[in-house]
Amino acid sequence: MAPLRENSETPPLFTELFRDELTQLLRWRRDVRRFKPDPVPAEMIEELLDLACLAPSVGNSQPWRFVAVESAKARAAIRANFEAANAQALDGYQGEQAELYAGLKLSGLDMAPVQLAVFCDEQTLQGHGLGRQTMPETLRYSAILAVHTLWLTARTCGIGVGWVSILDPVQATKDLAVAEDWSLVAYLCIGWPEEEHHDPELIRHGWQDRSADCRKLEKR
Ligand SMILES: Cc1cc2nc3c(=O)[nH]c(=O)nc-3n(C[C@H](O)[C@H](O)[C@H](O)COP(=O)(O)O)c2cc1C
Repeated sequence: MAPLRENSETPPLFTELFRDELTQLLRWRRDVRRFKPDPVPAEMIEELLDLACLAPSVGNSQPWRFVAVESAKARAAIRANFEAANAQALDGYQGEQAELYAGLKLSGLDMAPVQLAVFCDEQTLQGHGLGRQTMPETLRYSAILAVHTLWLTARTCGIGVGWVSILDPVQATKDLAVAEDWSLVAYLCIGWPEEEHHDPELIRHGWQDRSADCRKLEKR
């Protein structure tokens, strides 16, 4: 990963080449669940966190909180949490769909060398409540933007990120012994991908294709 450039006072001019590369980044960012066992240097993770902190946030509240889940005990607790939540999710499907669901790989918890739990500090005073009086959920939206920023940045240096939400968030909060005011927004598996794809795994495995509905623009 190239060292971060000093923050220049001169606004950058983004070239067409950059825009093209950004498009490629957006097209090739993937949710990764299959990781090589190779470690990710700690300084790369530090840099990803630095850049994630540039995400926008309501009132500049920066409510994201990162927890590196490293101990065997903490990882085992998250694995057990996932297994239970996934079994419960499977119960909600029937027939062929249940079979298909059971065959999907829905987390990289088995291999990901780095695992980050991302929380939202629901009681942060930072931002003084600006922008979230009528929409308190914007605090969590802000934490999610930090996740997306990290996700894209990771991809630029070949690091894969996989989001695991098949978890009981309250249990995860207890198991990771974080402050009660923190709510889980994402559990991220991070590492070097085993393979690269331009299409999402859930499309490849016949679960859910892309739809044009998301692109519709209604006018009022
Ligand atoms: C909020 C959120 C939660 C997700 N949770 C899971 C999950 O628990 N397991 C999983 O396999 N993928 C999960 N994903 C990844 C999606 O399945 C994936 O983004 C989607 O299929 C599109 O694929 P792509 O990210 O490779 O474009 C999650 C993604 C988001 C944004």
